[in-house]
Amino acid sequence: MNGRRTRASSVHAVSIAVAAILAAGALAGAAQEAAAPAAAPAAAPAHADPRHGKAISYTCLGCHGIDGYKNAYPSYSVPKLEGQNPEYLAAALHGYRDGDRAHLTMHSQAATLSDQDIEDIAAYFAGKPLAPTGKAQGTVPQAATLCVSCHGQDGVAIAPMYPSLAGQHEDYLVRAIEEYRKGGRKNPVMKGFAANLKDEDIQVIAQYFSHLTPSLTTEARPYTWLTAR
Ligand code: HEC
Ligand code: HEC
Repeated sequence: MNGRRTRASSVHAVSIAVAAILAAGALAGAAQEAAAPAAAPAAAPAHADPRHGKAISYTCLGCHGIDGYKNAYPSYSVPKLEGQNPEYLAAALHGYRDGDRAHLTMHSQAATLSDQDIEDIAAYFAGKPLAPTGKAQGTVPQAATLCVSCHGQDGVAIAPMYPSLAGQHEDYLVRAIEEYRKGGRKNPVMKGFAANLKDEDIQVIAQYFSHLTPSLTTEARPYTWLTAR
């Protein structure tokens, strides 16, 4: 109970701190500052119960467990969740539930989940989060130089509250960045970074991250109680 509240509020504090620094105009410096929490332990929260997460998430697999499944209007791929950081997945679900992210289907999917349900589902879907390789693959495009300070040169996030982008669907990455730019997603940190991007930059960035390995994957684990872990 306490651990959960502490982590949530410290993530919030980091967001506010980063937003404040950004407002001061020190972009590159801000990315470095924000990179500092990387030292925090990335272990899965002890109180999360992936078995319970599995038990209550069968409807989710109807979209997130089908390779190549698309959101209908507009058309873009449903995001890959396996290998993602559980802390980030939980933050995203809070976003859909509480209104920081505008997406009707995901809002109704998350609306009835308790905070504990969200922790449990996040732990289940994350599986084994991607481990950073610490290496760039090829040349990081100019437009992504700032982005890799949080999302990693190899697309594996440097801290558990940031999403890994490695191997994520290209069209979903474009969509997500546009949502921060247009305000459908309200996260202040990403709103700041997305605001400066041109359409061409977004294409280049999405292409770069979507081709990195090791990659996030579509949920494809056998669906039985016995294999819940
Ligand atoms: C009808 C299809 C559908 C169902 C069912 C569904 N999702 Fe989603 N989910 C999506 C789409 C589409 C997105 C991307 C939304 C956006 O553009 O922000 C998404 C986004 C997400 C994200 C954010 C991923 C990221 O990288 O930020 C998480 C986490 C998530 N879903 C978890 C769930 C869970 C948990 C359930 C079940 C309780 C569920 N979804 C049910 C379609 C679905
Ligand atoms: C200071 C750290 C930081 C920097 C620098 C940063 N991001 Fe992010 N990024 C985040 C955080 C935190 C989130 C999660 C926001 C949320 O809750 O929606 C995020 C989310 C995203 C997502 C959504 C991923 C998903 O699965 O939905 C994309 C795409 C993204 N960032 C791309 C970028 C790009 C492109 C840049 C550079 C222009 C960038 N980021 C710079 C911290 C950062």
